[in-house]
Amino acid sequence: MIPFTDLYSQYKDAKKDIDTAIKYCIEGNHFITGPVTQHFEQTIADYTGAKACASTGSGSTALLCALLGAGIGPGDEVITTPLSYVSTSEAILQCGSTPVYVDINWTYMIDEENISSAITKKTKAILFVDLYGQTPRIEKLKRIAKEKNLILIEDAAQSFGSSYKGKRVGSLVDLTCFSFNPLKNLGAMGDAGAVTGSKALIDKVKMYRDHGRRQPGVYETMGYNARIDNIQAKILEAKLPYIHEWIEGKREIVERYNKELIDWFIKPVEIKGSYHTYYVYVVQIPNRKHRDNFIKYMADNGVQCNTHYNRALTKQPAYKKFAKHSCSIAETFAERVVSLPCYHSLTKKQQKHIIEVANKFKDTVS
Ligand SMILES: Cc1ncc(COP(=O)(O)O)c(C=O)c1O
Repeated sequence: MIPFTDLYSQYKDAKKDIDTAIKYCIEGNHFITGPVTQHFEQTIADYTGAKACASTGSGSTALLCALLGAGIGPGDEVITTPLSYVSTSEAILQCGSTPVYVDINWTYMIDEENISSAITKKTKAILFVDLYGQTPRIEKLKRIAKEKNLILIEDAAQSFGSSYKGKRVGSLVDLTCFSFNPLKNLGAMGDAGAVTGSKALIDKVKMYRDHGRRQPGVYETMGYNARIDNIQAKILEAKLPYIHEWIEGKREIVERYNKELIDWFIKPVEIKGSYHTYYVYVVQIPNRKHRDNFIKYMADNGVQCNTHYNRALTKQPAYKKFAKHSCSIAETFAERVVSLPCYHSLTKKQQKHIIEVANKFKDTVS
């Protein structure tokens, strides 16, 4: 079976650095907070070009602490996308505010053209998602946010290492939230995350991620234990120098898939100016029945596929009550998308097998 992911290959590439990182934390008793956390935050700020960074225990808590740090709470509305991992909407609810879903377009990004009509007096922020690893047209979002005095928050869980018009994700908008869970472009060996932004906002995010305190013994507000584990922080630093080689490896496979997969599959669209890091390589298949059959067919032929995501949030039991505007594109796409294995260690032979098997599927349905 060709697995959907191959995390062990990353360990093999960076083994010496990762082993040294783990040993350093264990031998020095560096487990939470302190210089290892601070060094990691500076590393992420330097890499992304952000003014400041707050590390967190996961991408989910990065989102929650970012929203709280931005002052979003009960009575506020946050405009967001219906096609994402659940954490994006979950964080909006966790801070007591309401998600307002705006449909996506062909690029899988929130459609900037639909945002203005969803803005009300209660709207405080736009929380957009770099789905699959690329950014939407940032200048359009910035224009809307400036006009309407909204905070712009980027869920960049899937796009660490991506850039837009030469500027790295993390330095583009008010607050950017990263996930470093093991599957992500930069993946830890457990959960981890971070938020980047201005010094003032990041100071608040840091307060929420550490029980509401900014100095020892003073709790200014209710917060969370959402701190990073230092072993994860050090592992991430050890892996950082490798990720561009891994991303470029993926981009070569994407080029081959785009060229050699038949046009019956609807292939990804790259947004002009956006450097896409392909957290996942997603194609569309005409309908849910064919999509589900395709996944089974691929598994029967030795290829493990996945879906990102199987159902739009506007169709999920916990979130459908917030669907006020039509999200028919996201809902339709969720029925059609399928993610193929795509990682730097996928051999040429495995790539060939995936392409050949996938291309034959059409004959089984027509
Ligand atoms: C778009 C998106 N947002 C948020 C998250 C949550 O990140 P984590 O798994 O680190 O909590 C993920 C990752 O699973 C994600 O893909």
